[in-house]
Amino acid sequence: MGPLYSLARQALFALEPEAAHRLSVVALKSGVLPRCPADLDSRLAVTVAGLSFANPIGIAAGFDKNAEVPTEILRLGYGFAEIGSVTPQPQTGNPKQRIFRLPADQAVINRLGFNNEGHARVLGRLQAIGGNRPGPIGVNVGANKDAESRIADYAVGIETFYPVADYFTVNISSPNTPGLRDLQAKGNLQALLEAVLNARQMAGEKSGVQKPVFLKVAPDLAPQDLADIADLANRHPLDGLVVSNTTLSRSGLRPDPHADEAGGLSGRPLFKRSTIMLAKLRQMVGPDMTIIGVGGVDSAETALEKICAGADLVQLYTGFVYRGPGLIRTILTGLSAAVEEEGVASIAALRDRRLQAWADRDLPL
Ligand SMILES: Cc1cc2nc3c(=O)[nH]c(=O)nc-3n(C[C@H](O)[C@H](O)[C@H](O)COP(=O)(O)O)c2cc1C
Repeated sequence: MGPLYSLARQALFALEPEAAHRLSVVALKSGVLPRCPADLDSRLAVTVAGLSFANPIGIAAGFDKNAEVPTEILRLGYGFAEIGSVTPQPQTGNPKQRIFRLPADQAVINRLGFNNEGHARVLGRLQAIGGNRPGPIGVNVGANKDAESRIADYAVGIETFYPVADYFTVNISSPNTPGLRDLQAKGNLQALLEAVLNARQMAGEKSGVQKPVFLKVAPDLAPQDLADIADLANRHPLDGLVVSNTTLSRSGLRPDPHADEAGGLSGRPLFKRSTIMLAKLRQMVGPDMTIIGVGGVDSAETALEKICAGADLVQLYTGFVYRGPGLIRTILTGLSAAVEEEGVASIAALRDRRLQAWADRDLPL
C-alpha cells in the first residue's frame, strides 16, 4: 500500500463502510486516482471464452453495481470489470447498516440485498460508454427479491444487456436474497440454465454474435452440490464458472464486534475455501471451461495461487478496500516477475500448476 492510500484509507475507514465506498466511486469518476503506467506486459494477456484480456485481474461484481465507473476501473489497470448485480426493477436492498469491516482479518461482511438502480438506468450508462472500451465489461445479472419468476428475471437480463455486455455472469449465489441460493440445487439449476442459455441463443442469433455466459456459485456447497453443478455445466453450453461469491461461514475469524453480523463474508478468510472449491470444480469440468477465481485475493501471491489452482481469470473486491487503487499495479508487477522466474511465455502456462494439491484439500467446515 502506497503512503498516499495509507492516508486516504485512514480517512475512508473513519467513515461508515457504505459511505466510504460511495466516496471511492466518486473519486474514480472524478479522475483523481492514478492510472496504471502504459508499459503493459504482453505475457499477462489472456484469451478465454473468445475474449481478449490485457491481464487476468478484474474487479468483481458489487463494486460498481450500477455501471458508474467501469472504464475508470479499467484505466486503473484492471484487465476487466464486472458491473452489477443488476435486477430488472430498481431495489433499495436491506436496511442500513449493511456493510461491516473486520480489519483484523482484512475481511468484510455485507448484506446489501441487491441494491441497484435496475436494468433501464444501468443499460443507459453502458450504452453511453459504447463499444470503444479499454477492456471487457461483464454484466452480472440478478433477480428481484419479489420477482414473479426469478428465472425469468435472469433471462430478461441477458436479453436486455446483450448489445452492451462483453460477457454475462448469472449470480445465483448471493446469500442476501432469501431463497436465491436454492437455484443452485440440481432441478432448479437445470431450468435456470435452460432459460438463460436459450435467451443467449436467441439474442445471439439476432445479433450474429455469441457472448459468453458464466455462472457464479457460492463457496458453501456440499460435495454433492459441486458434482451436480459441474455435471450440469458440462451438459449445457455454459461458458464458465465464477468461483466464488461470499461465504456464510464464520470459521476461524479473529474476535471482532462485527464477526457475527448476518451476511456474506469476503476477503482474506474466504481465500482458502474459495480456492479449494475452484480447484475441485476445475477437476470436475475439465481443462476447457473458463473459470474465474474470486475470494480473498489481495496480493500477487494470492492472485497467482488462484491461477495455479485452476483459474483462467481472477477477480477481487475486498482487497481493493484494504489495499487501494495501487493494488492492481502491485499484482501485475508480481505476476510479471512470476512469469519471468518460471521462464514461461505467458501467465496461462502457470494455470493448474498446483491444481492437485488444492483439489486434495478438504473444504473447511
Ligand atoms: C460489498 C459487497 C457487495 C457485493 N455485491 C455483489 C453483487 O452484487 N453480485 C455478486 O455477484 N457478488 C457481489 N459481491 C461478491 C464479490 O463479487 C466477490 O465474489 C466476493 O466479495 C469475494 O471476493 P473478495 O474476497 O475479493 O471480495 C459483493 C461483495 C461485497 C464485499
